[in-house]
Amino acid sequence: MSKYFVFTSYIFRKSRLTELRSLSAFKILDNFNNVFIIEAGRGLVEKAKEANLIFIYSIFEVCDAIELSSEGYLYEIESSVNKLAIDVDVPMKYECYDVNSKRGYSAKDVEVMVGSRLENEGIKINMEKPAAIAYSVLINMKCYSGYSLVEGLMKPFLNPERHYLKAYSGISRAELKLREALDEFDIGGKRGMAIDMGAAPGGWSKVLYDEGFKVLAIDPADLNYRKLGERGVAVKEAIEGIDAGETLLKSENPIILHIKSGTTKLHSLGIPGKACIVVNDMNIEAAESARSVLELKDCFAKDCLLIMTVKCITKNADKYLSITKRILEGDFKIQFCRVLPSNRQEITLFARRI
Ligand SMILES: C[S@@+](CC[C@H](N)C(=O)[O-])C[C@H]1O[C@@H](n2cnc3c(N)ncnc32)[C@H](O)[C@@H]1O
Repeated sequence: MSKYFVFTSYIFRKSRLTELRSLSAFKILDNFNNVFIIEAGRGLVEKAKEANLIFIYSIFEVCDAIELSSEGYLYEIESSVNKLAIDVDVPMKYECYDVNSKRGYSAKDVEVMVGSRLENEGIKINMEKPAAIAYSVLINMKCYSGYSLVEGLMKPFLNPERHYLKAYSGISRAELKLREALDEFDIGGKRGMAIDMGAAPGGWSKVLYDEGFKVLAIDPADLNYRKLGERGVAVKEAIEGIDAGETLLKSENPIILHIKSGTTKLHSLGIPGKACIVVNDMNIEAAESARSVLELKDCFAKDCLLIMTVKCITKNADKYLSITKRILEGDFKIQFCRVLPSNRQEITLFARRI
């Protein structure tokens, strides 16, 4: 048996435990919110890497577990990390994830202190492209530490929340969901036209614009023109779908064109077979949202990518996922589904036009 810490979505508690159980029998040793310390059979990380997981972000092996006292807090974390079999020749980074044990120090403070001690001991530190990661999770006044080569991890980084918050441009918190989605889904060299369904206030459109797309942003609500303008985004309101399509076809540079309408009211967008990515974050019931995507299907190019959030009104995630898949399946190949760190009561679905 081995110990692991498991990071899961905050939401869908029952589903995330069922998913973990599908990998291995386990016993929970410690838990706080979306972090679980479990005991399970060896090889769990490898199994998790191969499975198509929806609710589990990552799993790390725990090599050392200690109780923390208030007095020796920092020193104890450091001595736990010192017990790890760190290879001095492999450039590494130390990460701390502090769930609820704060003793006047932030996770960043712990990282700076432990990281500089490791450096003083002759261990090579590489913050940008480490080949190995040493990590500590502080939870319920305990410290769980581990060490792994990056290639052995399920994910290349330890702390999803902190990683993505840096990318927030201030249009809407929702934009983090699309940034996280683009990290999961390789859109390759695809650039050209994009359709953003339920675009207001414009976070996802801004992400697509930054990626070099010409975006048709559809929403009866307003985009945040002021903030988008301040951030150097070329954004305009279009009169009607068909005009927007023509303007977009003519435009040589990335642009956001806002069609101020509900998707169901649009008869033509004037871009038959042209959109190579469609994103949908409409806050409507899952089945209706999936059907709305199909209503625009004449606009999608062959191989067009679809990224949509499946809104789950109740905690029964499986129900909303299966109905959405059933509606889309004739026209799209579903690639995978994930609850991403910034998702709220929703699941991000990735598909490709057949
Ligand atoms: C969660 S917000 C989208 C946030 C957006 N992705 C962002 O990053 O700023 C959901 C949006 O869906 C829009 N919406 C709901 N039903 C719609 C429909 N039938 N057609 C177009 N937009 C719709 C709402 O007006 C709302 O602005």
